[in-house]
Amino acid sequence: MPATTLDQLVSLCKRRGFVFPSSEIYGGLQGVFDWGPLGVELKNNIISSWWRTNVYERDDMEGLDAAILMNRLTWRYSGHEETFNDPLVDCRDCKSRWRADHIRGRCPNCGSTNLTEPRPFNMMFKTAVGPVADADSFAYLRPETAQGIFVNFGNVLATSSRKLPFGIAQVGKAFRNEINPRNFLFRVREFEQMEIEYFVIPGTEDEWHQRWLEDRLAWWESIGIPRARIKIYDVPPDELAHYSKRTFDLMYDYPTLGHEEVEGIASRTDYDLGSHSRDQETLNLTARANPNRDSTARLTYYDPESRRHIVPFVIEPSAGVGRCFLAVLAEAYDEQMVKAPPSERVHAVADALEAFLKSVGRNEKLASETRDALVERGQAILRGLPEAMPQIEALLAMPGADQIEIGKKLRGQAQGPIDEYFRTVLHLKPHLAPIRVAVFPLKRNHEGLVAMARELRTSIQSGSFFRTVYDDTGAIGKLYRRQDEIGTPYCVTVDFQSLEDGTVTVRDRDTMQQVRMPASEVRGYVTGRG
Ligand code: GAP
Repeated sequence: MPATTLDQLVSLCKRRGFVFPSSEIYGGLQGVFDWGPLGVELKNNIISSWWRTNVYERDDMEGLDAAILMNRLTWRYSGHEETFNDPLVDCRDCKSRWRADHIRGRCPNCGSTNLTEPRPFNMMFKTAVGPVADADSFAYLRPETAQGIFVNFGNVLATSSRKLPFGIAQVGKAFRNEINPRNFLFRVREFEQMEIEYFVIPGTEDEWHQRWLEDRLAWWESIGIPRARIKIYDVPPDELAHYSKRTFDLMYDYPTLGHEEVEGIASRTDYDLGSHSRDQETLNLTARANPNRDSTARLTYYDPESRRHIVPFVIEPSAGVGRCFLAVLAEAYDEQMVKAPPSERVHAVADALEAFLKSVGRNEKLASETRDALVERGQAILRGLPEAMPQIEALLAMPGADQIEIGKKLRGQAQGPIDEYFRTVLHLKPHLAPIRVAVFPLKRNHEGLVAMARELRTSIQSGSFFRTVYDDTGAIGKLYRRQDEIGTPYCVTVDFQSLEDGTVTVRDRDTMQQVRMPASEVRGYVTGRG
C-alpha cells in the first residue's frame, strides 16, 4: 500500500538520509533542502531515466544545459518581470504573510480575517553580477529552465541541422521566492526541473499535445506511478499561464495533500520564440508577443514545404524533480507486518501512545494547530494498531513531538516490536533504487567470508551504472531490513557453502525469496532485471 501520510515519507527521508534541511546546523533555510547520500542516488536515477526516455530513445530530441544566470532582458521579454507574480496578503494582527489563494481569507497563524488586499509579489530572486551592484549588474536566478532553451533555439537549429518537429530537453535548477514554501519537497524555493520544449509546424500543435500527454503518462508508469494514480486536469482558460493556449496538468494523488500537480504539459503557441525575436511585425505571429527592440535574432525556421520562414509552435512537458521524487517514494512505500506481535506488547505500546497523546493535549506551549495535528494522527494510529505501529516513527518526527518528554518512552516501547515484527519496504523499480545490490558476509569476523564478499562487491560494481555496496555492520536479518527500507532490490549473502562451491544466495526485496546461484552469475542476474 502506498504511503498514507506525508509524515511517513518525511520521517523515512530523515531517518535514512535521503533529504536534509539546508544548512541545518544554523537553523536551516525555509523552503530549501539538501540531498543526502541515498537521496542523490534516487534523484540522479530519476533524472537518468527521464533523459534516457526523452533524449536517447527518441530520434527527434537534442539536449541542452543552459546557465542559471541570464541576461535580464530574457525575463523582460518572456513576460516574467511583469506577470510572474503570486498574490500576497499580510495579516494585520500577527504580521505574518501569506499567499492569498492558499488561505481562504483567514490567517492560518492566528485565525484573524483582518487581512490586507492581495497585491502582486514577483517570485524571481534578484542578484548582482560583477563587483558593482548597479542597474547594469542586475540579474535574476532563473525561475524556470525553459527560457534557456528558447533563447538557444537558433543555436541548436544551426548546429544540429534539425527539421521540425524536434525538441530540446534540459534538466536544471530553478528558483522561486515562494511566499509560503511548504509540504516538504512539494513547494520549495530552490528545485530542479526536467523540461522539454518541442517545436512543431503551426497547426499540428493539438495533435502533438495529445501525443506528449500519452508519452509522458507512459514514462510515469515506467517509474512506478500507475496511470490510475494520476488525474489529468485540463486547465480552464481563466487559470492558464500567460503563455499557454491549453495545458494539461498531471495531478498525482499525494499522501496528505491529495491530487496536486507533478507535471504540466503546456501548448505555448509561438509566444516564446516570437517574444524573443526582432522584426516581429514580419513574422505573422498568432500570440500576443511582447514587443522586442533588443533581440538580435529572428527565432524562425525555414520550412521547405511552404518555402517560408515560420515561427514554430511549442509543446512543453515540464516536471519538477522534487515532486517526482516524492511521488515515487509515496508510491513505493509500504509497511508490512511480517509476524503478528504478541498482544501484551501491543497493549504496552497502546498505553504508551495514549499517555503521549494526553501529554500533547495538556501541553500549552504547542500551537493549537500543531497539537491538533499530533492528536489526530496519534488517534488514527491507536485505532489502527497493531498494523499501524510503524507509523509511530512518523508521529514522533512530526513538528512539536520532540517537545513531549514522554515521547522518549513511547519510542522505547514501540521500537522493539517495530524492528521485530514489521518491515518498511520501498518497492522501487530496480533502475531507480539508490542501491541495486548489497553484499553481506554471513559472519563479519570470518576472513574467508569477508574476503569473498568484498571481492564479489567489487566485481559486480565494476563497469555497472548502478551502485553496489558491502555491509557487515549487523546480523543478516537486520541488514535485510535496512536494505528493504531504502528499496535495495537484491541482497547477496556469502555463507560457508559459498566457500566450498562458489555459490551465494540472492534475496528478492519484494518476495523475500532467496535463490542460490554461482557468484559469477550475480552481476548478469541483477543487471538483467534492471
Ligand atoms: N516552464 C514551465 C513551468 O515552469 P510550472 O508549472 O511553473 O511550469 C513546472 O512548473 C513544474 O515544476 C511543476 O509541475 C512542478 O513539478 C515544478 N515546480 C514548480 N514550482 C515548484 C516549487 N516551488 N517547488 C517544487 N517544484 C515546483
